[in-house]
Amino acid sequence: MPEIVFDNVEKSFGAVRVLEPFNLHLDDSEFTVLVGPSGCGKSTTLRILAGLETLSGGEITFDGKPISHLDPKARDIAMVFQDYALYPHMNIARNMSFALRLAKVSKSEIDDRVKRTAELLNIAHLLDRKPAELSGGQRQRVAMGRAMVRDAGTFLFDEPLSNLDAKLRAKMRTELAEMRNTIDKNMVYVTHDQVEAMTLGDRIVVMANGRIQQQGTPEELFKSPVNRFVAGFIGSPTMNFLDGELTEADGALRVRGDGFDLPLPEALATRGRAHAARTVTLGLRPSSVTLDTVPGAEIELRVVVSEYLGAQSVLVTRCGDEEVLVEANSATPIAPGTTRAFGVLTDELMIFDRESGLRI
Ligand SMILES: Nc1ncnc2c1ncn2[C@@H]1O[C@H](COP(=O)(O)OP(=O)(O)OP(=O)(O)O)[C@@H](O)[C@H]1O
Ligand SMILES: [Mg+2]
Repeated sequence: MPEIVFDNVEKSFGAVRVLEPFNLHLDDSEFTVLVGPSGCGKSTTLRILAGLETLSGGEITFDGKPISHLDPKARDIAMVFQDYALYPHMNIARNMSFALRLAKVSKSEIDDRVKRTAELLNIAHLLDRKPAELSGGQRQRVAMGRAMVRDAGTFLFDEPLSNLDAKLRAKMRTELAEMRNTIDKNMVYVTHDQVEAMTLGDRIVVMANGRIQQQGTPEELFKSPVNRFVAGFIGSPTMNFLDGELTEADGALRVRGDGFDLPLPEALATRGRAHAARTVTLGLRPSSVTLDTVPGAEIELRVVVSEYLGAQSVLVTRCGDEEVLVEANSATPIAPGTTRAFGVLTDELMIFDRESGLRI
């Protein structure tokens, strides 16, 4: 399983630059998730890696060896496409073994690999059926199985769960998360769903506008996002952003804005002092706001809507004119229209430079 390095890789289609020069390092046998909004360049990155698209600059290496001149076939890669299609006239076993039969792999070896992969994907009981006799989720698994029977070193998945409804998607996500622990291969998985990214990835690469924003473990991205984009993209419900000003009083640094005046924890204050008296953006996670008030660290919010989700509710509130989401235990119902003080866990606050968006 190669260690994959993108070295200053860039991509333009004619005069249109779709991937700004970037560097990435994917460890041996790592599960990497590329995540970002539609059009940010995820599929293009995957297609360049697979050799289906040429790069416009830079080089990709596998274990230190350049591969960008190699044909897709010579790269030891299997790919599941965003729009897969199964052969309708072949049964599932033959769909899955198609590439192996082309490669003249022996019959016993084919049977063995198809059986093992089908068991892994929980479709072993469906091998004799035709695709039309399967549910959407089962068909999607066959499409994945068709790639996985191949003994490639690297597997690329382009939104493999995109055709599924929310419930089946969640189920497949769990199955994939379980399965990936048993497969010792490089996997590069594209999705625009940050929950999928967080549950599956050893490391996640967040992309936006043809640029890599950050690469890190799910925890690194959640706790130490490099900028406002990553902070807002990772985490559900999404982080709240409020305009504020850094002020220093009695040796303590505070962030103050319309409806709040909060003390910053010492580590953040140390970094923030260089920006004192500057306007910044305060980042406040919905889980960092509490119904219990915290002396000296409060925010006044007007509750607009309470979305009951079961054990948890999401309160949609206003702080001045800005919307603030609050994650609350639904055991304490709060009537819409209420204005009250909420506590803030100040250790979890983040601040961002208003202009560059970089986290301070
Ligand atoms: N063959 C092409 N010619 C010109 N532009 C292209 C071509 N293929 C992709 N693009 C452009 O490159 C950008 C990135 O496309 P890409 O398919 O990589 O996005 P994506 O992140 O996979 O999006 P999605 O989540 O919608 O699948 C888009 O703006 C797209 O319009
Ligand atoms: Mg795509």
